[in-house]
Amino acid sequence: MGLLEDIRAIVGEAGLITGDEVGQRSDWRGVACEAKAVVRPRSTDELSAVMRLCHAARQPVAPAGGLTGLVRGAYASPQEIQVSLERMRAIEFVDPVGRTMRVEAGAPLQAVHEAAAPHGLTYGVDLGARGSCTIGGNISTNAGGNTVIRYGMTRENVLGLEAVLSDGTIVSSMNSLLKNNTGYDLKQLFIGSEGTLGIVTRAVLRLHPSPTSTATAILAVDRFDNLTRLFALVGQRLGGALLSFEVMWNNYYDLIAVRSGRHKPPLASGHDYYVIVEAAGFDPERDEIRFAELMVEILELDLAADAVIAASRAQRGAIWAIREDVPGQIMMMAPGVSFDVSLPIDHMDAYTQGLRASLANLCGVEAMMIVYGHLGDNNLHLLVAPRPWSEAASEAAKEMVYRPLEALGGSVSAEHGIGLDKREWLSLSRSPEEIALMRRVKTALDPHGVLNPGKVF
Ligand code: FAD
Ligand code: LAC
Ligand code: ZN
Repeated sequence: MGLLEDIRAIVGEAGLITGDEVGQRSDWRGVACEAKAVVRPRSTDELSAVMRLCHAARQPVAPAGGLTGLVRGAYASPQEIQVSLERMRAIEFVDPVGRTMRVEAGAPLQAVHEAAAPHGLTYGVDLGARGSCTIGGNISTNAGGNTVIRYGMTRENVLGLEAVLSDGTIVSSMNSLLKNNTGYDLKQLFIGSEGTLGIVTRAVLRLHPSPTSTATAILAVDRFDNLTRLFALVGQRLGGALLSFEVMWNNYYDLIAVRSGRHKPPLASGHDYYVIVEAAGFDPERDEIRFAELMVEILELDLAADAVIAASRAQRGAIWAIREDVPGQIMMMAPGVSFDVSLPIDHMDAYTQGLRASLANLCGVEAMMIVYGHLGDNNLHLLVAPRPWSEAASEAAKEMVYRPLEALGGSVSAEHGIGLDKREWLSLSRSPEEIALMRRVKTALDPHGVLNPGKVF
């Protein structure tokens, strides 16, 4: 029997997809799957048996979650088998006392939120792709999102996990304790390693008490120094209640909120920045008053030119829909290149202005870059659309975006990972010694390069 037949014997008919059906599957952008086959195990044991075979046959595999990743980390070539966790999506157990949840890695992020809510608990990671992205994908990319400022990235929200190594070994590190200093923290090997060291099959997530009040505002701000002063003031006044501090540069707001025709703009265009401030607390009446007072203080101090507080869930949703409108970005900017960079907040103004100037030189037009992101986390997203579009112009844009980050102590990837797309830029953010150590870890865990080969480096 060939390898695929041996795999079919383990996972059953429904667990193996081959032939034309493979190409009918696609990622969130609609890009068709090119893999040789798709394996869909139903349990850790099945996956372990599959990996034993693949390891023996030196068959490369690419792990896949919800396929919402933005750096082609889950791309599977025609020589590779895609291992999809889509049939391992159970929410196994919620412990309301210890505030933990045990899940299979294919569980969608939104399902985790929905399972925590009835217990008066919340999971600290939230992002626009919540309906499709999986906990396994979030762990493997160390996903960030909209609430990092309060709860940290995925790394801070995972207590334990289980993973299958390239040779099929199952490493069960399903710790559910907040404190456990018994030697190396092995789960960290798998968090953020983009499926190159093991396939995550289950996890123990840390939960928090659900806030009972949420207040959301969008503010129009002129001048970057007002933006940084606003960030400082909001931090002082809201303290631990601050959930999100998201900023859209005017080029983003004008294009997506106004010109796309997809939204009813809550604020007039023409200001420099549009900021979403969200707070969540445990004293609904007082929180609402304090939040409104804070907005008045901000306006009196002239830190913002205008502000709207969401008066309903629908209004809150409409504000966030502008910020999370990825389809709108594609509609207005494709073809384009998207970036996810980190740099100190103090340097963001000069950096984006410098970029605008160099891109204008490249393309002869100015309005082909939009900027937005999780400012409170040092994290900017940029979408650049060179016109006329060409591969050469897109490569030149990458050079312009990435090169200055090195001197600024920035990072070429804040939260999306390296995948295939950023490999050649890794050395701008990591030293030769760091990359050499990463390679040693990779070789130790996956000596035959079976797991997600060619990703990260
Ligand atoms: P996939 O795309 O399937 O895979 C991502 C990587 O993880 C690949 O390298 C893959 O091989 C590996 N992988 C997947 N599952 C496993 C597993 N079980 N074991 C081992 N490796 C695995 N990202 C953010 O960080 N913050 C955001 O705010 C954010 N917003 C987004 C909004 C939209 C609309 C979209 C489309 C994407 C956004 N993303 C964001 C990117 C993406 O959602 C995240 O990277 C997410 O964590 C990917 O999860 P996934 O399940 O889709 O993983
Ligand atoms: C976001 C994705 C692009 O923050 O990371 O919308
Ligand atoms: Zn983001």
